[in-house]
Amino acid sequence: MLTLHYSHASPYVRKVLVLLHETGQLDTVTMKQATGTPLEPGSLPVGINPLGKIPTLERADGCALYDSRVICRYLAERAPDGQRLYPDGARLWEVLTLEATAEGILDVAVPMRYEMALRPASQQSPAWLEAQWSKIARSLDALESRWMGHLAGPVCMGQIATGCALGYLDFRHDARQWRDGRPALADWFARFAARPSMKATGPS
Ligand code: BEZ
Repeated sequence: MLTLHYSHASPYVRKVLVLLHETGQLDTVTMKQATGTPLEPGSLPVGINPLGKIPTLERADGCALYDSRVICRYLAERAPDGQRLYPDGARLWEVLTLEATAEGILDVAVPMRYEMALRPASQQSPAWLEAQWSKIARSLDALESRWMGHLAGPVCMGQIATGCALGYLDFRHDARQWRDGRPALADWFARFAARPSMKATGPS
């Protein structure tokens, strides 16, 4: 049996959960909730993952797999039809780059959230926050202008990662109104968010 150390709010965990739904593997994983912050590790799995990050996937042999990209690839390989999420051939590199773009959005959006939620307002840096958001805005513009053809194709890990990243922007950065000026991406997300796997895994 596999154990997934998780938190409901984590968009990285959501990627794993959506993949488990899409590949019919939910009943192969035991869920173990972890709580903590960058300031207080709490029950984050520091004993098996030195970075203390979630998701961490603990195998029956005690080996811990992380981060979400490694876990998703591992779980896709275990599913009979999981390979469709990482198609062979030239399309694989696009899938991985799309996933990296979505992951990059999260790697900026999550620390921004911590800056705003954990630091006293007097110690926050508005200039840093704006510079960080500009990375997200550029990435969203790239999705809108260059990636819509790919997003319209068969479901893949890049689409799952993109859906989870946009869901997190709605959850924690709603005030930024990411849909403004990006109608194609907004339409795509409305359709993707209606998938049962996405509806079952929203942040809380
Ligand atoms: C959040 O609450 O925004 C969050 C929680 C866990 C991981 C990443 C983000």
